[in-house]
Amino acid sequence: MADARDAAEPADETELAIEGALRPMSLAEFVGQQKVRGQLQLLLDAARIQERAPDHILLSGPPGLGKTTLAMIVAHESGRPLRLSSGPAIQHAGDLAALLSSLTPGEVLFIDEIHRMARSAEEMLYLAMEDFRIDIMVGKGAGATSIPLDLSPFTLVGATTRSGLLPNPLRDRFGFTAHLEYYEPEELERVVERSAAMLNVDLPRSARAEIARRSRGTPRIANRLLRRVRDYIVVHGSASSSGVDLGTVRAALELYDVDDIGLDRLDRAVLDALVRRFRGGPVGLGTLSVAVGEESDTIESVVESYLVRIGFIGRTPRGRIAMPEAYAHLGVPHPDGALRFDDL
Ligand SMILES: Nc1ncnc2c1ncn2[C@@H]1O[C@H](COP(=O)(O)OP(=O)(O)OP(=O)(O)O)[C@@H](O)[C@H]1O
Ligand SMILES: [Mg+2]
Repeated sequence: MADARDAAEPADETELAIEGALRPMSLAEFVGQQKVRGQLQLLLDAARIQERAPDHILLSGPPGLGKTTLAMIVAHESGRPLRLSSGPAIQHAGDLAALLSSLTPGEVLFIDEIHRMARSAEEMLYLAMEDFRIDIMVGKGAGATSIPLDLSPFTLVGATTRSGLLPNPLRDRFGFTAHLEYYEPEELERVVERSAAMLNVDLPRSARAEIARRSRGTPRIANRLLRRVRDYIVVHGSASSSGVDLGTVRAALELYDVDDIGLDRLDRAVLDALVRRFRGGPVGLGTLSVAVGEESDTIESVVESYLVRIGFIGRTPRGRIAMPEAYAHLGVPHPDGALRFDDL
């Protein structure tokens, strides 16, 4: 597991603390995602003018793109306290009832990985989101009765890496749904620039661009690679006296198994299985997951979503196929090319 997700997941307590320190606290500081930023700004402004809690917000997208960060920004910008919870922590309706009934008026409730919440809690949440009310069941069997309980108005911010797994009735109850997209290299360059300034690392533009290019479209990875480059400089020094040169950055990144376009070991394992073992596919996601020894959830939300985005993998009704770009990256001749070659 550690291997598989180390690119996108926060690793340990220290890393988490640093990640927290680098988190933008306002929409103005939040880089990229221009459309989502504009929409959120409008939503927050409207709520402020009307002196009410902002609408419920659903944020979806692959790990490390800023869902938790945006939830914190929503609370911060609307001047409301934030309560953090997550789907896996809500195993029973009772867990959710306890959480909801303890919220202070106007509080922002963040539920991470909301698709992993218990089904019974999900149903309770429908009513809570719509009417700020829940029904608490008391007793069991024929003697069971439900007691209605009024809640203070709150804003729910749900985050999910798998929005496809959310039941429609739940999705429909969010007033605003945003899907976060992978970042462009120029946007990641700005993330690196901002973080480098905060970490006191002096990097020339070429070095920042190199880190951005290898960050898999993901700010969390950009920040992580930046810290690895900083470690490398602390230990080895920078190669030229005028500052950190590109060679130093490349040497640092190579140590961490990040290839020249930012793919990590798991990305390459999936591509390799698809191209070599399954001869380019089509192959089902489950089969592919077994071949690389990783959960299909991870393969779908972390690996495949990025490889599709950069045009290395195609999704077809019969399964996943390798695109010519994937062959080129692995240095394997494309079958079509080989055929034409043989025909000569
Ligand atoms: N738009 C952004 N601008 C600047 N930094 C960002 C941005 N988005 C994310 N980051 C940085 O990336 C880190 C990871 O972001 P965040 O924790 O919000 O991701 P996430 O979408 O919640 O991921 P997960 O699905 O794993 O929970 C943050 O600590 C923050 O420093
Ligand atoms: Mg998060």
